[in-house]
Amino acid sequence: MSKLRAVITAVGGYVPDYVLSNGELSKMVDTSDEWIMSRVGIKERRILKGEGKGTSDMAAEAVRQIFEKTGTKPEEIDLVICATTTPDHLFPATANIVADKTGIRNAHGFDLNAGCSGFLYALDTASQFIEAGHKKKVLVIGADKMSSIVDYTDRTTCVLFGDGAGAVLLEPTTENSGIIDRLLMSDGFGRKYLHMKAGGSVQQSSHETIDQRLHYIYQDGPHVFKHAVVNMADVSAEIMAKNGLMPDDLSWLVPHQANLRIIDATAERMGIDKSKVMINIQRYGNTTSGTIPLCLWEWEKQLKKGDNIILAAFGAGFTWGAIYVKWGYNPK
Ligand code: UT7
Repeated sequence: MSKLRAVITAVGGYVPDYVLSNGELSKMVDTSDEWIMSRVGIKERRILKGEGKGTSDMAAEAVRQIFEKTGTKPEEIDLVICATTTPDHLFPATANIVADKTGIRNAHGFDLNAGCSGFLYALDTASQFIEAGHKKKVLVIGADKMSSIVDYTDRTTCVLFGDGAGAVLLEPTTENSGIIDRLLMSDGFGRKYLHMKAGGSVQQSSHETIDQRLHYIYQDGPHVFKHAVVNMADVSAEIMAKNGLMPDDLSWLVPHQANLRIIDATAERMGIDKSKVMINIQRYGNTTSGTIPLCLWEWEKQLKKGDNIILAAFGAGFTWGAIYVKWGYNPK
């Protein structure tokens, strides 16, 4: 009998309407369009506005889009995994809130936090449920409202991040397509370079922690850069070698969108032409768990059945990894 694989059968995405430009940011902190474009490659990012709006609202939009595109009914979904670093609340899980908002009633769901590698971790986890024959229709979401943890007085981080959500529907197949291989890594030593100091069980929220602005992202950018640029490139090259893939065999690289220089270094290491690299960092910035599914969403109409695609990411933890996907459908 042919091996059961998990294949992506639809993609949905959502970015908020509000555009935060480099020009507007340079009125808030001492920065410039020239610095941001040359060091990072971001022109603008989207911000979710509105009282009481959170990560689940963006994720629910992406999920509804999948239902509309495919005719899938909410009651057919049997698992929801939401990768996020900015859940609506510490508990309950945002996956459950998304399920409630979209009418999903027959599924179990949970959140997964692996920083910017979250979507890859979630995709891998979801695929195991399908390959084991336990689940048939799984929603894998990558969503983050980064503006909720960004300090807009800190120029070293506030220019980097944006809000957005993407989702994919994962189903079983016996064809030679879907999630073919994965290499996922983590190393907790890196936590000191990228974290949020307060609001967890080690340092609980207090007036003092708020006054000290400890509920925002802390990042030692150059240290993170050093590890990201090596590890994302290494793991992408490694998964190619493991699967006997040459640069010409690849249709697309879908990299996490943290810094154009990291993306370029990864593409170079893989020997893949820049025209095959999905890049939308200039419009959305770093949406953390959202970057990879948002790329798939934007490029969906260009993807063809049988395309060999490498998804790659690096993020807080440290976490990093690559997934080799053989695309399962032609543009509809
Ligand atoms: O997605 C999760 C993983 N995260 C990443 O992969 C991010 C990895 N890190 C990076 O992408 C880069 O390190 C940053 C984009 C965050 C920073 O770029 P950099 O080239 O590493 O800059 P730097 O931190 O070394 O700073 C260079 C200079 C400093 O000034 P001095 O000390 O040389 O006078 C900074 O204060 O640039 C200054 N600077 C800025 N200037 C204008 C830092 N941020 C800004 C800014 N505008 N926004």
